[in-house]
Amino acid sequence: MMSLVPWIERRWSFDLPVSAFPAVLERLRGLPARAAALVERVPEVLLAARPTRGWSVKEHLGHLNDLHALDLQRVDEFLAGAAVLTAADPANHRTTVANHNTVATRQLLERLEQDRRRLILALESMGDADIARTARHPRLGIPMRLIDWAEFVAVHDDHHLAAARYVLSSPTTPPQMRTRTTERQQQTAAVNAQRDLFEIPEGVTYLNCANMGPQLRAVTQAGVLGVHGAASPWARRSDDWFAPTERLRALFARIVNADADGIALVPSVSYGIAVAAANVPIASNQSIVLLDGEFPSNVYAWRELARRRGAVVRTVARRSSGSWTEPVVEAIGPDTAVVSVPNCHWTDGRVLDLTRVAAAARRVGAAVIIDGSQTVGAYPMDVASIQPDFLVTVGYKWLLGPYGLGYLYAAPRWRAQGVPLEHSWLTRAGAEDFARLTDYSETFRPGARRFDMGEYPQFVLTGMAIAALEQVLAWGVDRIQREVAVLTSRLERGAFDAGADAVAAADRVDHLIGIRPRSGMAADLIAALAEAKVYVSIRGDVLRVAPHVFNTAADIDRLLKVLQSRS
Ligand SMILES: Cc1ncc(COP(=O)(O)O)c(C=O)c1O
Repeated sequence: MMSLVPWIERRWSFDLPVSAFPAVLERLRGLPARAAALVERVPEVLLAARPTRGWSVKEHLGHLNDLHALDLQRVDEFLAGAAVLTAADPANHRTTVANHNTVATRQLLERLEQDRRRLILALESMGDADIARTARHPRLGIPMRLIDWAEFVAVHDDHHLAAARYVLSSPTTPPQMRTRTTERQQQTAAVNAQRDLFEIPEGVTYLNCANMGPQLRAVTQAGVLGVHGAASPWARRSDDWFAPTERLRALFARIVNADADGIALVPSVSYGIAVAAANVPIASNQSIVLLDGEFPSNVYAWRELARRRGAVVRTVARRSSGSWTEPVVEAIGPDTAVVSVPNCHWTDGRVLDLTRVAAAARRVGAAVIIDGSQTVGAYPMDVASIQPDFLVTVGYKWLLGPYGLGYLYAAPRWRAQGVPLEHSWLTRAGAEDFARLTDYSETFRPGARRFDMGEYPQFVLTGMAIAALEQVLAWGVDRIQREVAVLTSRLERGAFDAGADAVAAADRVDHLIGIRPRSGMAADLIAALAEAKVYVSIRGDVLRVAPHVFNTAADIDRLLKVLQSRS
């Protein structure tokens, strides 16, 4: 591998004729286009990845932006006849604190375009006398003409573009991350753009997001980068422990219409429900309202709490048609202390209007807990209007993130007084100052951070979850719900002829649909589906089908074909 001379070791001859200035200008003009070409089709996560030593690609681009203010100042100094040019900061403090890795590449490129245009405008107006003006370079200690300085800036551009290219092709970058999307892949992407974002082999019909979301390529890449990063713990800065988790909180907050302060990072739904159960008030003989056939992680903790407090669990019976809303609202009464419900039933997608349920609970002073695992990410969720006490969700289903990292929203009153399950050093005020951890703090970090799980700065998982949530937000939850509605209604229409009854659209969410074969669930149905490489779940007497934006009508038709062949 070629090596690149450190910038400060460059030697200069400064011997261009003044008449070469238009050619130097041409080179300076080319920076934005060259930078754009360098990063084209390279995933954001890779552009933000720091090599073992030095800057990420984004930081190199950001640094070139950072210097434009100094460049313009130096042009003025030449024209004003200054003896010495203003010195650059040798520590590059501005670039260090700018946090360029959190800025979208598109934005970095736009800034580069604008700032470079300003510099070019200033230089284009120069006459030969200006171009030959001389000032001393403060670090080199030698006089340079304005044309020499312009060449110096152009070589500095080259240096950082070369360094950025080096990061992309470095052997510490995993080989599969160095590949860009080929033209051919791009064309395929235009046909089924969303599927190409995942690694789902041809022939696989994956309709099982309710079990586990498939992994986005960007998430795989973030994971690989995280694992590679873990090989160099000495390169980790104290900010690396906290900044990515803050970004993750902010992204999740956007999905549920909360503020980042209200989000804690948890490993599972059972953990989040345990936090809620440890905090909500309940007296003997009061009741906890749950759905019939609820997912176990939203049942056991409440049974345990009821046992300890002499309270009762009131299970709302399933009805064969209609939504859950009416029966749940009817079950809420003066003795209700807690209502812990999802937005739809996890087995068949039958819906629950949380706004109405939460309002009924509030009227009797009951706490509202939501398990959003089967909806958040694919179905709109607005905690600002529903106002639950707590909402918890896994991150690995509709949020397409890694297993083992979920989210807990806590209402403002619990952020001030809630009791966490654990007492990690990482949840206390001052945790950022690693030198003073034994100055024990009785204060928590602000907001819902007191509920964070121990070791919440999951270095590998956090990057993966960020990549996943960025993609979910880029699609938009409303759009996801709209697009999959076409698929589930196609299945609902086709199911009847294939010998099955489907939950009607009016009674369910659009991304998850349960169908019940009229002749019962044959034991070998799953095997027949697996043989056809059609992946769905069987939950009790229900075949649960859960498509996402990477699915097409052809996927639904393949499932229907298997059902038809057996009806
Ligand atoms: C409704 C619901 N809640 C929770 C979970 C997962 O719970 P936990 O994170 O406790 O494993 C699932 C998984 O299938 C689920 O469907």
